[in-house]
Amino acid sequence: MKILVLHGPNLNMLGTREPAIYGRETLDEINRRILQTGSEAGIEIECFQSNEEGVLVTRLQQAYGRFDGVIFNPAAYTHTSVALHDAIKSSGLPCVEVHLSNTHKREAFRHVSLTASACVGQIMGFGAEGYLLALAALVDIVKKGKAL
Ligand code: DQA
Repeated sequence: MKILVLHGPNLNMLGTREPAIYGRETLDEINRRILQTGSEAGIEIECFQSNEEGVLVTRLQQAYGRFDGVIFNPAAYTHTSVALHDAIKSSGLPCVEVHLSNTHKREAFRHVSLTASACVGQIMGFGAEGYLLALAALVDIVKKGKAL
């Protein structure tokens, strides 16, 4: 099984970026935990971060037929990007949306996700643990061979 983990804009700044909201763990440390959990379960995982919407669109397009599922934190693009909604659909893959923070407890502009309706589900508010919860959920979905 092959899972793509995508991180959107500003997530490369984790560790120093608004630690009261996002914690002190860096993206590298989070990725290492995801990769470790994956390798223990015999799952191949590729992690990728970009600050650019088009680059994320292209990675989702390229995932078609090459991966079994996607874990995606679109970060700020969550709230603005029809292109990423369409790209998730174009990938033809089950996608779980992850947010470190509970966006519903924050500013009103973070309450809407344009990408969530292209995903099988959303996990938010559990910090970096959310990626591991998403991995467990996604593996289950892929094994059962169904996108909910
Ligand atoms: C975020 C929430 C978004 O609103 C924000 O723009 C981010 C991070 C999260 O993981 O909590 O960059 O996706």
